[in-house]
Amino acid sequence: MPLLTWTDELSVGVAVIDSDHRNVVDKLNDLFDGAQTAQSKEKIDKLLNELIALTAAHFVREEQLFAQTEYPDVRTHRAQHAYLCKQALTIQQEFRSGVIESLSPEALDVLKNKLVNHMKGFDKKCGQYLCARDLEA
Ligand SMILES: [Fe+2]
Ligand SMILES: [Fe+2]
Repeated sequence: MPLLTWTDELSVGVAVIDSDHRNVVDKLNDLFDGAQTAQSKEKIDKLLNELIALTAAHFVREEQLFAQTEYPDVRTHRAQHAYLCKQALTIQQEFRSGVIESLSPEALDVLKNKLVNHMKGFDKKCGQYLCARDLEA
């Protein structure tokens, strides 16, 4: 069973953002599967690295949209992105240094909840703003 299943509830109404979010959800599920089936440390590390790279690239894309559309809530939203990156990098650092031997379902669940809360909160708000602007144009 995947850690997270995409539903319309996660959609922010902007195709480019939803597409990125779906990729992040897929990669998070791959990582969860990898950890559950006790794949090699190298494989888990590769998946975690890919998840971080995908997420960071997505944050950059969202922040470019903010700049293009004069989104008003940039500061808080960017700070949330930085916070989420830091969380993921901390997990990576602990995993790589051996502080944690494997990625526990609980640790991934915490990360999942943070990402979902961000999508349902900050990103939905941003999606509404972008959709409204499109209608005005
Ligand atoms: Fe996002
Ligand atoms: Fe965001």
